[in-house]
Amino acid sequence: MNPSIADLRRNYTRDGLSEHQAPVEPFSLFATWFEQAVTIETTEANAMMLATVDAGGQPHLRTLLLKGADERGFVFFSNYASAKGEQLKAQPKAAMTFWWHDLERQVRIEGTVEKVSAEESDAYYHSRPLGSRLGAWASPQSQIIADREVLEQNLAELEKQYANEAPPRPPHWGGFRLTPQSIEFWQGRPSRLHDRLSYRLVDGQWIRKRLAP
Ligand SMILES: Cc1cc2nc3c(=O)[nH]c(=O)nc-3n(C[C@H](O)[C@H](O)[C@H](O)COP(=O)(O)O)c2cc1C
Repeated sequence: MNPSIADLRRNYTRDGLSEHQAPVEPFSLFATWFEQAVTIETTEANAMMLATVDAGGQPHLRTLLLKGADERGFVFFSNYASAKGEQLKAQPKAAMTFWWHDLERQVRIEGTVEKVSAEESDAYYHSRPLGSRLGAWASPQSQIIADREVLEQNLAELEKQYANEAPPRPPHWGGFRLTPQSIEFWQGRPSRLHDRLSYRLVDGQWIRKRLAP
């Protein structure tokens, strides 16, 4: 292999993160970093990795799109009957990580997860393009299917069924909100001496600490 995997490395020089710049709570810093990621990142800035754990303690990690962020938490949408949906039902905790490559930044969020209200799920579902709305009906997410034809056929039938009316939101599809217990901001720095500021919620107060990289 050329170059070898072990030789792949990049020195991070773009920016720093100091306690003087950082607010006492994490949400406004997330909002600032997210806005900068939307402007600067060449890939989807709202793509993140979501980790859940199954009953045997096995972690599962996959990419999802963040669809909302405010002081209540971080919202994403999926199939409630999917593998992740089942894992979150049994163990309503998750971790979320953003890697903003161009900005040399990572954000790690950990906390508890619950479904958003039906109204919130409806509002987002109905804002989606028709293809995505029908796709949520057509795909039994995480189930084994015989072949791709199954999906194409499901979609063709749904297109007929909803030719003259808007599809309702499937009851098995909607939003989740991760309410954070901790949020860590990581800024790449030269010589691997990166900046890490960790916010942890203790008795309702955000406590900020610097961690060694
Ligand atoms: C860039 C990207 C964005 C994705 N966004 C979502 C999403 O918002 N919701 C979702 O359910 N799956 C999304 N997926 C698919 C998931 O990664 C995953 O395959 C799917 O949710 C099934 O996961 P599970 O079997 O662990 O439940 C996305 C995949 C990629 C690569």
